[in-house]
Amino acid sequence: MEPITFQLNETKSNISFPDDLGFGKIFTNHIFMMDYNEGKGWHNPIIKPLEDLPIHPATMFIHYGQAIFEGMKAYKTANDEVIIFRPDQYFKRMNNSARRMCIPEVDEKFMLDALKELVNIERDWIPTKEMESLYIRPFIYGADPFLGVNPSKSYKLIILLSPVGAYYPEGFKPIKILIQDEYVRAVRKGLGECKTPANYAASLLAGEQALKQGYTQVLWLDGVEQKYIEEVGTMNIFIKFKDEVVTPKLNGSILPGITRKTVIQLLQEWNMNIVEREITVDEVVERFDAGDLAGVFGCGTAAVISSVGWLTYKNKKMAINNGEPGELALKLFDEITSIQYGLKEDTHNWLTHVEKKEVVVS
Ligand code: PLP
Ligand code: COI
Repeated sequence: MEPITFQLNETKSNISFPDDLGFGKIFTNHIFMMDYNEGKGWHNPIIKPLEDLPIHPATMFIHYGQAIFEGMKAYKTANDEVIIFRPDQYFKRMNNSARRMCIPEVDEKFMLDALKELVNIERDWIPTKEMESLYIRPFIYGADPFLGVNPSKSYKLIILLSPVGAYYPEGFKPIKILIQDEYVRAVRKGLGECKTPANYAASLLAGEQALKQGYTQVLWLDGVEQKYIEEVGTMNIFIKFKDEVVTPKLNGSILPGITRKTVIQLLQEWNMNIVEREITVDEVVERFDAGDLAGVFGCGTAAVISSVGWLTYKNKKMAINNGEPGELALKLFDEITSIQYGLKEDTHNWLTHVEKKEVVVS
């Protein structure tokens, strides 16, 4: 791969952020971009000013959805250090998605170096208030202008950066979730374990209907029988029963969350009985009725750890922990964010530091 070309705007320090950043609404000044063509492979890596994309109306991904994306975060510590959380894991998952979607894989080491260059240039854009961070969105799309259904022969990879606050309007307050049994998001052997737009498109209608009924998110059941719980629209799900903490085992239709992996590792280290297995929705209802359900939380990059205060299935409304944040969710939130913001030692080697360096502005 040839070296990255830098085409930079004057970068500003003292960027002022709105009080409530929300999620994914503002973007930094620069993006990373590179191209793929058959025979040439990935080439032309460049960091350049953010601008609209010139897109031919026949561009393949618009019609057939051949695209993948990732979502990770960078943080600024109290000492002004810049940290990216587990970027290697996200690039690895991006390549897993790429294989399933007939998209050419990327060199994970090169991607990490490119990301560090971009984040270094945009380090003043990393917000520092509570729950704030820099959301990193790498994505790849099929770029051929062609209306036939086959994998594109050319692709574009872009990394876009967005300063963000809490994903849910509730912040850390417990959220309300509707267990969805009318529509399905993904099926085993389908695309569920990939981070690809189709899964999110499949979730929109149910999400909108749930929102109208006062729910923040939908908990999806398996696509075949609607019997087993799978995941939330943007999070993996954990349930704390009295004797065990459970999460649905990866089965091909669930996204293998990096936060999920982090949570499992922490729970194991805390000697908790964490089990990855099939969980029927009937078991959840029965154990709730038996007074055995002590807490429910979701986890994801955008959402971090989010307590679930209310779960509804058909006409059954379940108030979890009286609608208060669960103790375990609070402990995990505290542990993970303390590591991410550099307040606790990184004993797992989860953090990638972005060294401060000057880049010549052209
Ligand atoms: N499930 C879905 C459908 C998601 O979009 C996400 C967010 O990326 C997750 C789970 C959590 O995954 P991660 O922790 O890697 O962000
Ligand atoms: C994430 O947590 O990174 C997500 O992908 C959630 C959503 C913004 C798609």
